[in-house]
Amino acid sequence: KGNYTFTIIKPCAVQSGHIGAILGDIADAGFRVAALKFVRLNKKEAQEFYKIHEERPFYGELVDFMTSGPIVVAVLEKEGAVEGFRSLIGSTNPKEAAPDTIRAKYAESIGRNAIHGSDSDDNAKIEASFFFSRNEIFNSEGGF
Ligand code: CMP
Repeated sequence: KGNYTFTIIKPCAVQSGHIGAILGDIADAGFRVAALKFVRLNKKEAQEFYKIHEERPFYGELVDFMTSGPIVVAVLEKEGAVEGFRSLIGSTNPKEAAPDTIRAKYAESIGRNAIHGSDSDDNAKIEASFFFSRNEIFNSEGGF
């Protein structure tokens, strides 16, 4: 069981001013921020990041949405991070998300669902590496 996960605060949540509240919920749930940046994906980058969804009917919409504005990307540390973070954010579809989860509070729809969380330790590593180099991910002492 790994200690790291990767997250994206999506354009809808950034646009509606929820960065601070979401990072607050994440900290309150006991996650330590190991890496953090504010970026905007271009179309090519979004297509590459979401390549696993290439054949899905919502791929074009997903790429357009994820390039529509800046996003916050972060690496988070906690024991059992992937699983713990997925319960903090709730189901992909906000209509199915448990009360008090981040998606229940801030998601607008299944596409504009406020936040992403990695679904496995392997994917957390792959996704974190897409945005961060090794010397941008810090341990609790501020080193790497
Ligand atoms: P996430 O798991 O972060 O990354 C893939 C995203 O695709 C997922 O969140 C949803 O926001 C989005 N997605 C999944 N299903 C649909 C759908 N039916 N319509 C639009 N977007 C979707």
